[in-house]
Amino acid sequence: MNREDPSSAAPAAKEASTGRAVVLHPALAEDRRGRPASEGRLAEAVGLAAAIDLEVVHAEVVTLQRPRPATLFGQGAVERLAGSVSAARADLVLVDRALSPVQQRNLEKAWKTKVIDRTGLILEIFGARARTKEGSLQVELAALNYQRSRLVRSWTHLERQRGGFGFLGGPGESQLEIDRRLISERITRIKADLEKVKRRRGLHRRARQRVPYPVVALVGYTNAGKSTLFNRITGDTQLAHDMLFATLDPTMRLVRLPGGLEAILSDTVGFISDLPTDLVAAFRATLEEVVEADLILHVRDVANPDSETQRRDVMAILADLGLEAGAEEPMLEALNKIDSLTPEQQQALRERAARKPEVLACSALTGEGVTELLQAVEGRLVRDHRRIEMTLGPEEGAAIAWLHEHGRVLERRDVEGRTHMSISLSPAALARFEQRYGEHREAAAE
Ligand code: GTP
Repeated sequence: MNREDPSSAAPAAKEASTGRAVVLHPALAEDRRGRPASEGRLAEAVGLAAAIDLEVVHAEVVTLQRPRPATLFGQGAVERLAGSVSAARADLVLVDRALSPVQQRNLEKAWKTKVIDRTGLILEIFGARARTKEGSLQVELAALNYQRSRLVRSWTHLERQRGGFGFLGGPGESQLEIDRRLISERITRIKADLEKVKRRRGLHRRARQRVPYPVVALVGYTNAGKSTLFNRITGDTQLAHDMLFATLDPTMRLVRLPGGLEAILSDTVGFISDLPTDLVAAFRATLEEVVEADLILHVRDVANPDSETQRRDVMAILADLGLEAGAEEPMLEALNKIDSLTPEQQQALRERAARKPEVLACSALTGEGVTELLQAVEGRLVRDHRRIEMTLGPEEGAAIAWLHEHGRVLERRDVEGRTHMSISLSPAALARFEQRYGEHREAAAE
């Protein structure tokens, strides 16, 4: 493939991946965290590359004596890696560290392939996952700032095949012609749009509250198992598709919890270690919906040696978003991947979890503990339920059936054709009931 010709980049036959990638994690020789930590970081980088459908054909930790300003790696390493890149027939090399524009260009020349650094990769991921208007704008802003410093050659093939934002490349080689002035103008526009979006945010929130189901957001580090858990929960639950959800994102699903309560489960973009500081705002914006969730389910990989640090990072970001642990915010912690611990470790973990009602051990892979987790989720959600008394006439059979289906009927008495009911309903279900059967509003109000 002639990479300089954007037209040749169009996917003739659609491939499963967006390109063959070599992933390199540069580790400083003096770094005291040592080899296992570097391997963990390399695994994370490989996982991130997979998240944008790159096919990782070679991955390694490269030890750096000291970073070189021109090429980051020493000359010997650059030459050796050129061999690996060419042998792997890679379309792209991902260097898991921030590269200066000069380093990036020099490495592209030496390896005769595109090179992308950690910041570029994360921008791609955020771009593909940003859902809210604010999230997209923040990501674009970060991407433009990044681009401004390098005015990179296009990365069009990825953009086209993936249909993501592909901010790293514009349409074809015209990207090269975009000058700083145009980018700066765009940045000014985006900043103005962001202000507008922020001002309107209150309105959106109100609209959101009308979504008549409680929302449970899965958060956690990349690789913690959020998507596996999401798939397990949604795969096990058979729910008729409501029209309302046809428009929802695939990372949001309506599920029925063990006690019958329905809730929306929402998967979010994973946390990433050492997030480049200029991407923090973009990341927070992609998480904005979490602020509006009724319950946060923090998924943790307990088999990861960095698990505790990761937990602190997650809690710090959530606190930045105004969600303090232990305060009013409903939050549960899922200690995931217990299947990969030794029996003794599992026992210790279960004992720890048993002492705290907000902590549960599970394995998204084997399914162990998932039902208990969902019961705990449901327990937290129904804590705010209200008990409502209603009297309904014989012509209101549909409303009665609806209440049986969506609420917990505590008492029912049928007297002379009229039905007296005492029901426990979530605030969301009550809102939904009022929407559908508005004429019962007086009856529903306490
Ligand atoms: P991002 O999408 O990057 O944020 O990651 P994620 O949190 O969604 O993680 P994902 O579900 O993609 O899982 C990451 C890896 O962990 C996959 O290889 C899963 O198979 C594995 N995994 C997930 N849950 C478990 C588990 O309970 N036990 C074990 N052993 N592996 C698991």
